[in-house]
Amino acid sequence: MTAFDLNDPDFIANPYPVYAWLRDVAPVHYGTTNDLWLVSRHDDVLAVLRDARRFSSDLGNADDNPFNPALRSPRALSRLLDRLPPARTLLTSDPPDHTQLRRKVAKAFTPRRIAALEPRIRQIAEQLVDDLDGDLVRDLASPLPTIVIAEMMGIPAARRDDFKRWSDELVDGLLTGGSRLKMARSAIAISWFFARTVRSRRRSPGDDLISLLTTRDQDGDALTLGELVNFCILLLVAGNETTTNLISNAMLALFDRPDLWRRLGEDPGLASAAVEETLRYDGPAQGLLRITTTEVVIGDVTIPQGARVLPLLGAANRDPRHWADPDAFRLDRPSNDHIAFGSGIHYCIGTALARLEARVTLETLARRHPHLAPAGPPTRIQSPVLRGLRTLPVTVRPATVPAHPVATAQPG
Ligand code: HEM
Repeated sequence: MTAFDLNDPDFIANPYPVYAWLRDVAPVHYGTTNDLWLVSRHDDVLAVLRDARRFSSDLGNADDNPFNPALRSPRALSRLLDRLPPARTLLTSDPPDHTQLRRKVAKAFTPRRIAALEPRIRQIAEQLVDDLDGDLVRDLASPLPTIVIAEMMGIPAARRDDFKRWSDELVDGLLTGGSRLKMARSAIAISWFFARTVRSRRRSPGDDLISLLTTRDQDGDALTLGELVNFCILLLVAGNETTTNLISNAMLALFDRPDLWRRLGEDPGLASAAVEETLRYDGPAQGLLRITTTEVVIGDVTIPQGARVLPLLGAANRDPRHWADPDAFRLDRPSNDHIAFGSGIHYCIGTALARLEARVTLETLARRHPHLAPAGPPTRIQSPVLRGLRTLPVTVRPATVPAHPVATAQPG
């Protein structure tokens, strides 16, 4: 095995055997098909993520996106979009810009602010779980994070469907081969919508995330309108689909292991362990993108300057050099030091929120539908970096329904 395509459906269906080969045989592997340097061992991935000076996140023009072949098509729209300056976001900036931006937004995601959301997230989860009607992704895993972030931002319920569509079309266009036209339309619609929301919150602030982000910090710095709009969009793109996929991947792993799902039904307190193990075993973010700012040597391989590097989180999280029994899904691991949320200066800002949403959803499912079972094969998102499901058919009825009602003792 020397060349393979990251967009190959077989690889996307199950990348783990390829990861194992890469870690053992070619831990720093140049893939000609995608023009990417794949880094797969745990310690190497960590070293890349923690070295923002030599491994830049400033990816420049989105047309370089290696995960959506459609983005390289020479159509008129592509050419038009290519002329637009790349949006400056937290995720795609380097220090010192990144340091400043991160300081300005960090206040919105403190563990205390997020923990206070638990009762409302539980209510939303209960409502969705009660209305579950055949597809766990469509009915629960997908709407939940959108509703939560929309409420956090103070977006009226009437705009939620637009919100969801924009977010889905953006993620589709960026990462999963979806229409670039729809992506551009959604980006424009959502930028306009957020710009108007930001202006109105500046005039009359409320108790929501956008109002909080419009206020100055102790150094008197406030986000500019453009930074704020970009950050709101980033929250949708980085936070919604990933959390949806965490919930779906967790349920897929548990359905494959009915004994564990049964244990969760008996003790919903195990939900937190199931969420952590899913992040390690089958995390939503499989790979990140970096550009080398200089020639870099890893092991005995020299990566040239200006190369695109893909640190594979999914491969690192199954590296037997770091984990005992890495291919087993276990709820009793002594440590959860996986790197599913990245590491270093870009470490995910939404970890507390994602963990809370996933844990509460699993607890609610285990309490209300302990007999939940798969009702057909799931379908997978066709992306090598975003791992998750498009559909997960389920049945909420007990797997074995008695043919007749169980006889109860009748009086005398
Ligand atoms: C299971 C769910 C999630 C996963 C697996 C995940 C994963 C990640 C990863 C791996 C990074 C690092 C990217 C890099 O180093 O290039 C990241 C960054 C980020 N995440 Fe998440 N994320 C999740 C949920 C969320 C949520 C719920 C939000 C917010 C609502 C969020 C917002 C962000 C932001 C803003 C960044 C950029 C941080 C920076 O560049 O400094 N994420 N996420």
